[in-house]
Amino acid sequence: MTTITVHPPKPGAKINPQMWGVFFEDINFGADGGLYAELVKNRSFSFPDPMMGWHKISPSKARGALSVQGDDPYAVQHPRYLRLQSQGTDVFGVANEGFRGIGLKAGEAYRLTLRLRCLSGTPALRVALYGENGAVLEQTELSGLAGAWEERSLELRPAATDPKAKLYLLMVGAGAVDIDFVSLFPVNTWKQRPGGLRADMVQALADLRPGFLRFPGGCIVEGSELDKRYQWKNTIGPAEQRPLLINRWNYEFLHRPAPDYFQSFGLGFYEYFLLCEDIGAAPMPILNCGMACQFNSGELVPLTDLDPFIQDALDLIAFANGPATSEWGAKRAAMGHPEPFNLTMLGIGNEQWGPQYIERLERFVTAFRAQHPEIKLIASAGPEPADERFQYLWPKFRDLGVDIVDEHCYARPDWFFANTHRYDAYDRAGPKVFFGEYAAQSDKMVSVDNRNTLECALGEAAYMTGLERNADVVVMASYAPLFAHKDAWQWTPDLLWVDNLAVVRTPNYYVQQMFCHNRGDTVLPTEVSGTAPGTVFASAARDDVTGEIILKIVHRGAAPGYADIVLDAVTPVHARQIVLSGEPGATNTFADPARIAPLPAPVVIVGPKLSLPLKPNAFTVVRIKTG
Ligand code: AHR
Repeated sequence: MTTITVHPPKPGAKINPQMWGVFFEDINFGADGGLYAELVKNRSFSFPDPMMGWHKISPSKARGALSVQGDDPYAVQHPRYLRLQSQGTDVFGVANEGFRGIGLKAGEAYRLTLRLRCLSGTPALRVALYGENGAVLEQTELSGLAGAWEERSLELRPAATDPKAKLYLLMVGAGAVDIDFVSLFPVNTWKQRPGGLRADMVQALADLRPGFLRFPGGCIVEGSELDKRYQWKNTIGPAEQRPLLINRWNYEFLHRPAPDYFQSFGLGFYEYFLLCEDIGAAPMPILNCGMACQFNSGELVPLTDLDPFIQDALDLIAFANGPATSEWGAKRAAMGHPEPFNLTMLGIGNEQWGPQYIERLERFVTAFRAQHPEIKLIASAGPEPADERFQYLWPKFRDLGVDIVDEHCYARPDWFFANTHRYDAYDRAGPKVFFGEYAAQSDKMVSVDNRNTLECALGEAAYMTGLERNADVVVMASYAPLFAHKDAWQWTPDLLWVDNLAVVRTPNYYVQQMFCHNRGDTVLPTEVSGTAPGTVFASAARDDVTGEIILKIVHRGAAPGYADIVLDAVTPVHARQIVLSGEPGATNTFADPARIAPLPAPVVIVGPKLSLPLKPNAFTVVRIKTG
């Protein structure tokens, strides 16, 4: 019989209120084609192939020409635009395919915005939504086009739901028209913000109640070469003035190419900060340290040229926290947020290693200690959780006195089950730990066969009990990656899978959610006995407001069992539990999205003890009120 003993009279460390968070990177069409609700791909004809995503529509009687022009553009940051010329013998124009189609919901409102200039004639522009099967879902016409660039906007309501619709722009009548910055958004974005984020995807994040949001990467921070690194200053201000950048996940995996993957930065740093505020998560930006990705070029900024990188980091603090009257605070205020965003931490570098990293990091540390000692600095311990690069870096971080070290691990579930005691013997005097990227891999890292199985989720849950028990040294953790589009992913597994209309929450998501919702404030020492090693994992915490004991148990086994819960020196009076269980290989799918989901179950209290049935392959959270 398994016995789990909790010791409420011996409270341990305080648990960071921001302990369980999320990590967002624009990978797998996470931003463009995902969270950023823009439905038009290559809206400003700025991709290297300016017509990528666009197709000519020319019925047999049409006589027309299309060309990409560059004189006198609408915005200098996007110098190219489309010119349509038609003799008016039939409609003539283009269709946009969206991001693996355009997802439309019947009867919902969509706002189309275009920049237009009529060069000759008096043509009208027919705007239409076509379903995947060729049916017209909605159409209307814009007439009275002006001779100088103007912004025109209208609302469309498709008659049917379609995950793979197209947007048509067709000239009606003879003449010539220039078109740029074609944008289609659902009106029902998150908080109904024009040009905002996909409501169902943000809702999934809000439902987690994460403690922090790490952004924008990941490898995209570094860039495969330095000129392709993420530069936050290019991502603020009016959307049409943010220059396009190729996404490194466009070409990184030859086995999963995504030639149409670019960063419009419609989701930029201002929007990330706003998202953090909306979902109650502390912002954790990660900035380039003066090195390109070491898996790619490893290009280095000479130490003598590092100052602009350090200045970018200092300016980011001013943008986030400075008064609205300051230079960078004024830019934030102009975008609609005069109040500060309360930035408290900042990561310098992602998955860097070697002396080149330490040399550069040192300069950031010096500048930050002098100018912003209030900001916690996060350093990266490389891509592996225990290799020689990791061993080299940790003592250096102690010497530099960085606040927090970001450790990463992608490994088989067995690694997670076997390493629940990883932090028991960690140095308590040095920097704290942020377990910033992790996910159990059902096959192996970077395999296309990885699945979000329950077994992987249970490995992560078991490991998280070890993080919680060591909350005095581990202060934050986040699963990675966060989102993946089912038709456009590069990396699997991922916490949430989306198509153009729906979001699927994985078993791994539910593990994260159960931890977020049941964090607790103070660690309570916990012992497991009477069971074979590696089958039952547990941790406990006290909710300091309600006084409840929150017990988390992972049962890894095919047979049902029982656990006696013994509470040292206190008596349980009421308990409730939720359980995530099923077949170890089970996943949630678009057809069966709730196959693995947490369910409440009864708890029996017998005298001073709780007797808890342990379902096979289960993660259980029990909240216990005591006398
Ligand atoms: O999460 C996917 C990638 O894994 C991240 O970009 C990188 O930091 C890690 O190698």
